[in-house]
Amino acid sequence: MEGPAKVVLAVVVAVAAVLELGLVGANFQDQCDITWQPQNAKMTEGGNHLSLSLVSNSSGCMLRTKKQFIYGSVSIRIQLVKGNSAGTVTTYYTSSIGDKHDEIDFEFLGNETGQPYTFHTNVFADGVGAKEMQFRPWFDPTDGFHNYTIFWNPCMIVWLVDSIPIRVFRNYEDKGVPYPTHRPMYAFSSIWAAEDWATQGGRVKTDWTKAPFDAEYRDIALNVCECSESSGDAASSSCAQGCATPDHWYAAPELCKLTDRQLRQMRAMQLGYTIYDYCADATAKGRLVPPECSMDQY
Ligand SMILES: *[C@@H]1O[C@H](CO)[C@@H](O)[C@H](O)[C@H]1NC(C)=O
Ligand SMILES: *[C@@H]1O[C@H](CO)[C@@H](O)[C@H](O)[C@H]1NC(C)=O
Ligand SMILES: *[C@@H]1O[C@H](CO)[C@@H](O)[C@H](O)[C@H]1NC(C)=O
Repeated sequence: MEGPAKVVLAVVVAVAAVLELGLVGANFQDQCDITWQPQNAKMTEGGNHLSLSLVSNSSGCMLRTKKQFIYGSVSIRIQLVKGNSAGTVTTYYTSSIGDKHDEIDFEFLGNETGQPYTFHTNVFADGVGAKEMQFRPWFDPTDGFHNYTIFWNPCMIVWLVDSIPIRVFRNYEDKGVPYPTHRPMYAFSSIWAAEDWATQGGRVKTDWTKAPFDAEYRDIALNVCECSESSGDAASSSCAQGCATPDHWYAAPELCKLTDRQLRQMRAMQLGYTIYDYCADATAKGRLVPPECSMDQY
């Protein structure tokens, strides 16, 4: 074989090997640590299936990815607690550790049997949050697994459910709106007890005779720029700078905005299923409306 052909073949083989590793390796055993109450986590199918259980009002469970990262995409498929899930909260989020943290949240607030879950979203940058939006799911999230994705790049953060964007938070740092750019995050998921406030404002309590409450997981996929500095002073670090360069897949110009199709999907979803929007709330209550509320969020 000629030299260049050999090189091409070697590259093809190497790429195939990496893809295969990616598939085989994308399980909870390899990707995650159980950082809170590991006795309530159960991994089966060689780490491809995970369940996190809530057993009592002082227990719960949490997983954290081994990787820390700045930018990229994290997906996980979850089947939420079935039946009477009142007072339970299942979370799925990315967060930095330490002071003035950055965080991108999904929280799934349980409900009485037959009543809808609430999908809660929020974002913190430089420790500043209070940017909540809540949605009703347009499907039963306890009936089978659904795919929840956090996409984060220098232009925008997108929350996706089954590949449908439900929310965008754009980077308006140049207009004074804090945006996460330099604190490495982990991805986390947890289940915990919050009967004081979670369901119908705390009116409906958890029925502990139904415990344990199980959230089931499959297919965690991290497609991220690894960056493992631990604190907030990474601003000038080579790792934060390296993750912000335009050669990364997530930094492609076409990923700086939703596609027209995605925008139509998001608008339809928000029109039909938004139950709380911090911008609308501030306006309605005559409070100071955050500056990003009058800027495009797509
Ligand atoms: C948790 O449950 C125990 C036993 O039922 C009860 O005594 C305790 O007050 C509960 N704690 C909270 C914070 O609700
Ligand atoms: C979950 O959704 C993301 C974003 O659309 C997609 O890239 C990923 O392949 C999906 N995962 C699964 C297991 O379908
Ligand atoms: C639970 O169901 C009630 C009644 O449909 C609804 O008002 C509430 O928003 C739902 N979700 C939560 C988390 O309470």
